[in-house]
Amino acid sequence: MAAQVFCEGAFAGENGARFGRVTTVHQHNAHKLQLFSDAGLEALLTRYPREDIGVYAMGDTPDTWRRGRLGDLPAGELLSMVKEGRVWLNLRAANSKDDEIGQLSQSILSEMKTAMRGFRPIKPDLGLIISSPNARVFYHLDVAQVMLFHVRGHKRIYVYPRTEKYVRAVDLEGVVTHETEEEIPYAADLDAGASVVDLEPGQMVSWEQNAPHRVENGDDMNVSLSFEYMTPVGIARANTIFANAWLRKRFGYQATLEPRPSLSWPAKVALARVLKKIAPIDTDAPSVFPHCFTLNKSGITFDTAEYAI
Ligand SMILES: [Fe+2]
Repeated sequence: MAAQVFCEGAFAGENGARFGRVTTVHQHNAHKLQLFSDAGLEALLTRYPREDIGVYAMGDTPDTWRRGRLGDLPAGELLSMVKEGRVWLNLRAANSKDDEIGQLSQSILSEMKTAMRGFRPIKPDLGLIISSPNARVFYHLDVAQVMLFHVRGHKRIYVYPRTEKYVRAVDLEGVVTHETEEEIPYAADLDAGASVVDLEPGQMVSWEQNAPHRVENGDDMNVSLSFEYMTPVGIARANTIFANAWLRKRFGYQATLEPRPSLSWPAKVALARVLKKIAPIDTDAPSVFPHCFTLNKSGITFDTAEYAI
């Protein structure tokens, strides 16, 4: 793609200097691409490997998050289902599964490297999210750094401080070691401390690594790019937290959220590498969210009544 993804000055001044460390908003042009029109999305959904599309449904509360499977419905009907129903599609690793999105991902990274000296992204992983009016993503955190490029529709994102009040170290450790999913305990009164951003197409929001967040869609279909990546410091931090989880279990070590690099990090990173070599993380372990419904031409069919929302 020839045109610039980011608007002129998207990372200039204080906003660019704070990128990755606090919640910042940056302007982009990706929403203007034909790729994200109805026809473009239908073509993408037609050519995209079905097994790499995650499908989820939800009600209004965190206990109603459900993971499903895609039935045999054509891309156009799938898109209509998203517009009319309440589902959340994730085209996983789209930067490596689709050439057009792969090029967009490369443009994003090269423009950012030009705009910010010292920006060293590792393991970029771009998921394309197509979600229904009023869909929700409940309170959770991600291990990696995240940029959310908003492309279509309206959504409100709540980003919470990465402090013990919002996420306990033991819960962060559970996510980093894959012992739990990304969901962490939530209470409505935490919202008072959140940064709230009403996202419009053409905005990208980024936040501090591991900061808890949640999303509420407006009453239109939403399309966003969830761009995860790591940095050298981010990887060291994740390994430090991984080691803390083991030290806590083994010796009752009272770990913190590791808010900034410290002298203990190199030893903990080395420990984490040894631990992962002895017992690699099993990312194929059964999820607490089993596949429990099928999305087909007639809508959502739950496997059993216990999963119904
Ligand atoms: Fe997230």
